[in-house]
Amino acid sequence: MRVLGIETSCDETGVALYDTQAGLLADTLYSQIAMHAEYGGVVPELASRDHTRKLLPLIQETLASAGLGRDDIDGIAYTAGPGLVGALMVGAATAHGMARALNIPVLGVHHMEGHLLAPMLEEEPPAFPFIALLVSGGHTQLVEVQGLGQYRLLGESVDDAAGEAFDKAAKMLELDYPGGPAVARLAELGDPTRFRFPRPMTDRPGLDFSFSGLKTHTLITANTLRETGELDDQGRADIARAFEDAVVDTLVIKCRRALDQTGLKRLVVAGGVSANVRLRKRLEEETAKRGARAFYPRSRFCTDNGAMIAYVGAQRLLAGERDDSAMKAVPRWPLAELMPPAA
Ligand code: KG4
Ligand code: ZN
Repeated sequence: MRVLGIETSCDETGVALYDTQAGLLADTLYSQIAMHAEYGGVVPELASRDHTRKLLPLIQETLASAGLGRDDIDGIAYTAGPGLVGALMVGAATAHGMARALNIPVLGVHHMEGHLLAPMLEEEPPAFPFIALLVSGGHTQLVEVQGLGQYRLLGESVDDAAGEAFDKAAKMLELDYPGGPAVARLAELGDPTRFRFPRPMTDRPGLDFSFSGLKTHTLITANTLRETGELDDQGRADIARAFEDAVVDTLVIKCRRALDQTGLKRLVVAGGVSANVRLRKRLEEETAKRGARAFYPRSRFCTDNGAMIAYVGAQRLLAGERDDSAMKAVPRWPLAELMPPAA
């Protein structure tokens, strides 16, 4: 079965074609980052309009690069949420319109399920069951995954998501949007011994996260250095390093706990923040120590993309799931509400 995947939940227009036998046939991506950078963050109305401009050309480009035509598609999957409602509606309307015209099934899929299963597109995919750390701009969650649609939430952020904290720290350090990669780059030049930032909620049991205190700590440190004239390049780099170390350490501690609590030996790390090199390195070390293994998507599929949506859609459409009758665009949609396709 060949499935066209459409991702328009935020600031990336992603399209891909996945074949349940041959694997990923093509994927294309258009990032709106440059457009939103001027405003220091995503402007929802501009995002929707840009998806409208870019989506159809990207669909054509994807089909052309696979050497296929519209009639070769057997089903369409689109991101139905969570995300920006206007942006989601562009993907949903296009998917439903095309599916109706081509008389093929269509399915709205969960964006975070896409991230969660993105490592399945790699050469050595993880087997079920596994623990997943989902770290994106909107989510920080630890999930126990027994199979497709069998997700038990073990812990999540009670306030900011890890990616959101990176983005806010970047603003405090006068770095461009999106902040994660910029903070990570600056942190490379920082002295890890100058500051030690708090590791929130690691001193008590449980698998929840909190990043707002760390954000405040970062702001206070930046303001203090500014007052004393020390917020120079080195000062900013030292703060970036202390911040990154604190986030990474916090995530690593909770992953370790989740593996110990469940006795599972596989850890999937996905979502935009999983592109962070220091996080990957630390998780590699921690899993190796426990005889466990970490799995990641390739870096292009860590952030938003159409391939992960095509993959999830293909699994569910193949199992007979479809929602042809109604367009779906759900800004808030808890992952734990998902069910296996047969249910
Ligand atoms: O998954 P994603 O593309 O979009 C959402 O669904 O939110 O994640 C984007 C987030 C942003 O907050 C961005 O700053 C963060 O992922 N990010 C990173 C890195 N690359 C992207 N954070 C830390 N280090 C990185 N290398
Ligand atoms: Zn995402």
